[in-house]
Amino acid sequence: MSATDTEAGFLVTGASRGIGRAVAQRLLDEGRHVIGLARRFDDELLSRNQFDAVAIDLAQLDQLPQRLKQLQRAHPLPSGIICAAGQGRFGALEQFSATQIRNLVDLNLTSQILLAREYLPAMKQRGSGTIIFIGSEAALSGGARGAVYSATKFALRGFVQSLRAECSASGVRIGIVNPGMVDSSFFDDLNFRPGGQADQHLTAEDVAHAIALMLAARPGAVIDEINLSPQKRVIDFGDRE
Ligand SMILES: NC(=O)c1ccc[n+]([C@@H]2O[C@H](COP(=O)([O-])OP(=O)(O)OC[C@H]3O[C@@H](n4cnc5c(N)ncnc54)[C@H](OP(=O)(O)O)[C@@H]3O)[C@@H](O)[C@H]2O)c1
Repeated sequence: MSATDTEAGFLVTGASRGIGRAVAQRLLDEGRHVIGLARRFDDELLSRNQFDAVAIDLAQLDQLPQRLKQLQRAHPLPSGIICAAGQGRFGALEQFSATQIRNLVDLNLTSQILLAREYLPAMKQRGSGTIIFIGSEAALSGGARGAVYSATKFALRGFVQSLRAECSASGVRIGIVNPGMVDSSFFDDLNFRPGGQADQHLTAEDVAHAIALMLAARPGAVIDEINLSPQKRVIDFGDRE
């Protein structure tokens, strides 16, 4: 993570748990200032120096543009933005209600587009900055029971590819990380999770490491996309099915 980024700090969505939390902690450990976004934060994170918590529901699209404007006024020009807020919901398409489909699209796709839209003008004007999105292996190939989730992740990846091209002249770097299964609270409400052995899942810190590599690229070089996955693909349905 570049030394010139120290002053302005990093905005991290989904900073309360999982991948976003690992990214936030890594940045804080390096002495960076982190503005963390999520709905709820625990005391351990809130007690960290240089950490500003912003309680926000990114799936509330009606209020989101206004909330993001306020956020941008309070924290106008971060060095980088890591978009790690997201949710998984899996099942046959007909098991989804219209509201569930809309909520997944709102959070996993639309909220990320709106956040980028709010911050890009100032970043382009400055001529620097990095925005990194978290896609998924589900952004690379679709699978049974993942139609809606995959749709959000494929769309996010397409958005990122277009935005990367759109920003290339400005000095703003756009990237995406596509992890396979990460052992995180993502699976708490699902009926499966990755295998428990160390080579059967990624850790949130593995993904934070990939993000750190993207941030550390010299200005003028862009790591567009990183795919990473556990050595072995093992899905544990436990006794929850
Ligand atoms: N875990 C995996 O296997 C995996 C694999 C590939 C890609 N991903 C992607 O990686 C991203 C992060 O996943 P994770 O594993 O870190 O999941 P996680 O442990 O469940 O963390 C999700 C984070 O998103 C925040 N969040 C959820 N809903 C929100 C909302 N409505 N408004 C604001 N923040 C919200 C949560 O905070 P609050 O609940 O406090 O709001 C939490 O900080 C997601 O986009 C996911 O699709 C995950």
